Amino acid sequence: MADSVTIIDNRTGDSIEVPIVNGGVDATEWRKLLPNVWFYDPGFMTTAACSSAITELDGEAGILRYRGYPIDQLAEKSTYLEVAYLLLHGELPNKQQQETWTHDITYHTFIHENMRKRFMEGFHYDAHPMGMLVSGVAALSTFYADAKDIVDPAVRRRQIIRLIAKMPTIAACSYRFSEGMPFVWPDNTLGFCENFLKMMFTPWEHVPWQDPVLAKALDTLFILHADHEQNCSTTAMRVVGSSHADPFTATSAATAALYGPRHGGANEQVINMLTEIGSIDNVDAFVKSVKEGTGGRLQGFGHRVYKNYDPRARIIKKTADDVFSVTGKNPLLDIALKLEEVALSDDYFISRKLYPNVDFYSGLIYQAMGFPVDMFPVLFAIPRTSGWLAHWEELLEQDSKIARPRQIYIGAESRDYVPIEQR
Ligand code: ACO
Repeated sequence: MADSVTIIDNRTGDSIEVPIVNGGVDATEWRKLLPNVWFYDPGFMTTAACSSAITELDGEAGILRYRGYPIDQLAEKSTYLEVAYLLLHGELPNKQQQETWTHDITYHTFIHENMRKRFMEGFHYDAHPMGMLVSGVAALSTFYADAKDIVDPAVRRRQIIRLIAKMPTIAACSYRFSEGMPFVWPDNTLGFCENFLKMMFTPWEHVPWQDPVLAKALDTLFILHADHEQNCSTTAMRVVGSSHADPFTATSAATAALYGPRHGGANEQVINMLTEIGSIDNVDAFVKSVKEGTGGRLQGFGHRVYKNYDPRARIIKKTADDVFSVTGKNPLLDIALKLEEVALSDDYFISRKLYPNVDFYSGLIYQAMGFPVDMFPVLFAIPRTSGWLAHWEELLEQDSKIARPRQIYIGAESRDYVPIEQR
């Protein structure tokens, strides 16, 4: 049996056979048979917008691999910075490469004093930290004019290091500002996560940023969030990158896409939902209201691609136990566990293949560590930056075309302009 599909244009009887390669068919071949007939696919439900060698995701089987390495092995044995290297270079670093990479990232953590004083402090006193991050990352492009040179791989690499290194600094700066607290400069004697926790929480004693268990837990969460192939924000990165905008501007666009509650904002919604439910006694009634369509969606459940347990959610559950052993149990955990138990045994969720996703438990961990809910999407953006940049580089190396989909026009027929007195 041929590994191909045949399309017949019933208007003419013409046909074309298109091979299936790596699970896809080349849509430009179809155009030869069907010029000016567009493939209508809102939300890209069935469209592969690129070929990529970075992340493999099999949503039916619940598989997630970065550059071929299973996510559970990376979460257990690797570090976020090593994973970032892997995503960007395609291979794990050797010892020398690891040291250089860690050194380079560490020594680019500082932001220009004008960036903090003039720009970040110019926000309204209660600005949302994610809004500040989106704008702050875009503003960085005005500090690094060389970033416009996207052709030279060495220049590109410099911006990549700057972006990965400065995201935690801008993130912590946003938070400190929204709390009315003075900015804490990066401490280059510390690791990536320890430094971030210190910039966030100095001098609050009740948030033990020095605790290695918490730094490791945050590092694990950063590994799990580092990439997820062609999600909404990565698509935004690729679309903006395809216009050859500089990487700071493209990363800002990706961060903006992550801001929405359907994407990076979902873990914030999970905490709001659990708080609203308030007690395990109310779980059954809440699930009933979700099924009846009156209670909104079960936040942190369901995924466009995973039709099985999200493998990241499994790892996060274990990380939650580690964190709660230090911070004490998040009181919302029992409600979350009960909610999961009820949903996973209910036909509504089973038949729609709705399982907990990465966001169902991550918010509980962040909250126990002392992060306020409006920092949750910011915590997602920090590690996802390495994934976005890996896709941006891959896109440029593939010399892809500018992203420019077609549309099915459904508006008015041609008509003549009517002067305002005659309307
Ligand atoms: N709670 C209740 N019902 C749900 C949920 C949910 N969380 N998710 C999907 N459904 C139902 C829909 O109502 C629909 O039912 P129907 O066929 O009877 O109409 C069916 O399942 C399919 O849902 P779609 O919206 O078509 O699925 P889609 O793939 O477009 O949406 C999404 C995926 C946006 C993630 C959705 O599951 C959702 O809204 N989940 C809650 C928000 C969330 O957790 N987002 C985080 C995603 S992970 C991330 O971005 C990191």
